[in-house]
Amino acid sequence: MKTVKIKDKEFELFLTQDTIEKAIGEIAEKLNKDLADKDPLFICVLNGSFMYASELMKRVNIPCEVSFVKVSSYKGTTSTEKLKEIYGLEEDIKGRTIVIVEDIVDTGYTMSLMLEQLVCDEPKEIFVSTMLLKPKALKVPVQLDYVALKIPSDFIVGYGLDYDGYGRNLPDIYKIKNS
Ligand code: IMP
Ligand code: MG
Repeated sequence: MKTVKIKDKEFELFLTQDTIEKAIGEIAEKLNKDLADKDPLFICVLNGSFMYASELMKRVNIPCEVSFVKVSSYKGTTSTEKLKEIYGLEEDIKGRTIVIVEDIVDTGYTMSLMLEQLVCDEPKEIFVSTMLLKPKALKVPVQLDYVALKIPSDFIVGYGLDYDGYGRNLPDIYKIKNS
C-alpha cells in the first residue's frame, strides 16, 4: 500500500515496518548493554508508543519492569506549552533507573514536562528513548538518550501514531502528501 487516505488527508509511504524494526533492534541492543545491571523500569507513554513499546520490549532481554502511563493536557489552555499531567503510574520510582518509551519527540514540550514531573519523585536516573525525532521541530532543549530514527518535520501516521485518532494500526509509517 503506497498511499492511504485518512479522513480528509492523503498520506504516502515513508518508512516500512522493516526499516522501523531494524532501528528498534539497534536501540534494544544498546539498552541491553547499557542497563544490564540496573533493573530498569520502562515507562511507556500511551497511546502513541504501543507498537514501539511492544517491538522494543520483545528485544530487551535484561531483567526489567514495564509500565504504561498516559499524559493529558489540562483543558482550558491554548498554548502548546500546556501543562501535562502524567497518570496511571503505580510504581514507586524513587531510586529506580527509569527509561521513558515515547513514540515521537516533535517540539519537545511533552518530554521536557514529563521529565520535570518524574524528577520530583526522585528516581536514581532517567533515560529517554523515542522511536522518532523531528530534530528541526524541536522548540525546547530536551534530553534524548536513545533515538531510533530521525525524520523531517512532516506530519506522519502509522505504527502507533494517529491523525485525529485514526491510522495507529498501520504497520508502516506514512507522511502527509503535498507538504
Ligand atoms: P511534542 O510536540 O514533542 O510535545 O509532541 C507531542 C506529541 O504530539 C507526540 O507524543 C505525538 O503524540 C504527537 N505528534 C507529534 N508529531 C506527530 C506526527 O507527525 N504525527 C502524529 N502525532 C504526532
Ligand atoms: Mg506520544
